[in-house]
Amino acid sequence: MSLYPGRRVDNMIRNADARWSAFAPDSYIDINYRISGEADLEIVRLMRDHFSRSFAGTTARPARGVDVGAGPNLYPALAMLPWCEKITLLEYALPNIAYLERQTSGRGFEPVWDAFWDVLRKDAAYEDVEPRSRFGEVVQVERANLFDLDGWQRWGMGTMCFVAESMTECPAEFERGVRTFMNVLEAGAPFAAAFMKESEGYIVNGIRYPAFRVGAEGVREIMGEYVEELVVHDLQHTVREGHEGMLLALGRRKSSCS
Ligand SMILES: C[S@@+](CC[C@H](N)C(=O)[O-])C[C@H]1O[C@@H](n2cnc3c(N)ncnc32)[C@H](O)[C@@H]1O
Repeated sequence: MSLYPGRRVDNMIRNADARWSAFAPDSYIDINYRISGEADLEIVRLMRDHFSRSFAGTTARPARGVDVGAGPNLYPALAMLPWCEKITLLEYALPNIAYLERQTSGRGFEPVWDAFWDVLRKDAAYEDVEPRSRFGEVVQVERANLFDLDGWQRWGMGTMCFVAESMTECPAEFERGVRTFMNVLEAGAPFAAAFMKESEGYIVNGIRYPAFRVGAEGVREIMGEYVEELVVHDLQHTVREGHEGMLLALGRRKSSCS
């Protein structure tokens, strides 16, 4: 049953209604990542420390990682780089897939991502990794619809940043997005999931994209069921009007959920 039974369900923009085929990666990067904001740098620091702690200082690369709804954001994959023999970027919008494929090509990813690597490499597990060649070696891009991933429990670590709440206004689709992410992770998998807090939606290149308004309690309520040692960081920074900060959930996937 939905956790949000009282919400209006009419006139909502659902995931399938939004113009994902017109998503403009360069504009999205300009708005969110071209100048690396304090919130994203803090998210990268927190992810780095969480993954480093979870793998207890080893740099063996046994894990297969996934970033769900990767969009044109490389920092989640960069944060998983020392720990993975393979990282899959799952994405639905074709312009974002084209962007990601260019970043994995022989020329290496574009310099905008260096500011995030500079934060990561302050941890010993990252400092000897050559990010461009390793990224090209281990990262692969796949087109997927999040809603088709039910039952794909196959990844040993994972990230999902600004996806479940930033792809729909519909509470049931938000909830399903979070549950699906938790269910693609194997027992014990460390993960990081970021959410725009109380977002009213966002505009990329003149096109409006939907969002579901969620706060820290809403995230805890759904994720608590799946997660050991769940921590939800409530970051106060905003990157634009129309949201109240960012949330970062960190933990490990439980072995069973009752
Ligand atoms: C706000 S962007 C977030 C992108 C990126 N993860 C980031 O951290 O900036 C939302 C992303 O969700 C993707 N998306 C929307 N609907 C999806 C679906 N049904 N399955 C998978 N990805 C989807 C969009 O294409 C877009 O890349």
